[in-house]
Amino acid sequence: MPPDTKKYNIAVAGIGYVGLSNAVLLARRNRVVAVDIVEKKVRMLNGGISPVHDTQAQEFLSSGELDLTATTDAAAAYSNADFIIISTPTNYDSEKNYFDTSSVERVYRQIRLYSKSAAVVIKSTVPIGFTESLQERNNDRNILFSPEFLREGQAVRDNLFPSRIIVGENCNRQRAEAFARLMLEGALGENIPVMIMPSTEAEAVKLFANTYLALRVAFFNELDTYAEMKGLDSRTIIEGIGLDGRIGTHYNNPSFGYGGYCLPKDTKQLVANYCNVPNDIISSIVAANRTRKDYIARKILEQKPGTVGIYRLTMKIDSDNFRHSAILGVLRRLKETGANAVIYEPTLGEDSFWDCRVINDLDEFKRVSDIIVANRMSAELSDVMDKVYSRDLFSRD
Ligand SMILES: NC(=O)c1ccc[n+]([C@@H]2O[C@H](COP(=O)([O-])OP(=O)(O)OC[C@H]3O[C@@H](n4cnc5c(N)ncnc54)[C@H](O)[C@@H]3O)[C@@H](O)[C@H]2O)c1
Repeated sequence: MPPDTKKYNIAVAGIGYVGLSNAVLLARRNRVVAVDIVEKKVRMLNGGISPVHDTQAQEFLSSGELDLTATTDAAAAYSNADFIIISTPTNYDSEKNYFDTSSVERVYRQIRLYSKSAAVVIKSTVPIGFTESLQERNNDRNILFSPEFLREGQAVRDNLFPSRIIVGENCNRQRAEAFARLMLEGALGENIPVMIMPSTEAEAVKLFANTYLALRVAFFNELDTYAEMKGLDSRTIIEGIGLDGRIGTHYNNPSFGYGGYCLPKDTKQLVANYCNVPNDIISSIVAANRTRKDYIARKILEQKPGTVGIYRLTMKIDSDNFRHSAILGVLRRLKETGANAVIYEPTLGEDSFWDCRVINDLDEFKRVSDIIVANRMSAELSDVMDKVYSRDLFSRD
């Protein structure tokens, strides 16, 4: 694509992992205003402090190289923008079988109060067909969907070196190319593939990609359950099958289950999208993840511990949040049997969590725990390995 030297005005709604990383990337060459309803995040960003834990984001913010400001004043931010990115939360409610896209719709309505012409780019994850339906309901073709593939903890890095840039656009290819070019120009990677496709296909790419990742996690976890129950060396088996180049040695480390903000809700959403579509695999992935956590909880209880120590609630060691982490699912199951649990989670800043004592002193935590349950291993547990229960075989995420 030929370079575009124009400096665009871009607004980003939602300063979370997705919004912040896109704002940082785009502010390398454009004027970006990030909008949030949480004043603290706005204050932090304006003070050069990253509101989420991300080393690269912090480096860029400290460098003074970005044309990036933050505000709670949506009117000012949206009225002057060429592109407005929506990166607000979406959630899946499995009881109501309903994917909550209300924050995206709310921001969209707000945007159109202040700007009729800005191209709206949805980066939040939405159900398949959502963007087209929003277009039809509002008779507005000026809405795009561009899936986001970042991982928390390295959000900016994943956007600087993206595996691909996908833009879902239903009528104006030039506009889609303009947005893809903005993303490319902010990135540092080379030969980044760009695909322009209809918005519904782009939404499907996002949900099927995350569901494949969940499938892979569930597969290696189920392999590990088999190996552990049969007394086999799980690591050796995984290494052996990974040498087949079609399978590979990546993304194969057993855990207590897939978790985090995206995989649980995106897999459930895809199952819901399959309503009336024949399938066995897609719905089994969600069930397999539940079975794995049941199994892990049972293995812990088999040891009849007086006190179970839960080492970290986060999904990954370098993460700063534990939204829907797998160990929470295990802890819930342990609590349901009346087990006594204590937690070591230094990012929590509270004395108790789910009626469990939070122990911030690692030595005391090690002392009072009969078994230490760790989804991911850490060097700081090396002196108590005889107490640790983990299925982390390769010491990586
Ligand atoms: N976190 C990830 O790894 C990831 C990866 C890919 C896609 N996604 C998707 O991107 C979306 C956002 O994810 P996230 O992790 O960045 O969320 P987040 O919860 O970290 O951040 C969302 C932000 O939006 C703000 N917000 C809510 N309503 C608002 C409004 N009306 N106006 C302005 N700001 C508002 C919130 O205060 C919050 O700061 C979700 O749909 C998620 O599924 C997330």
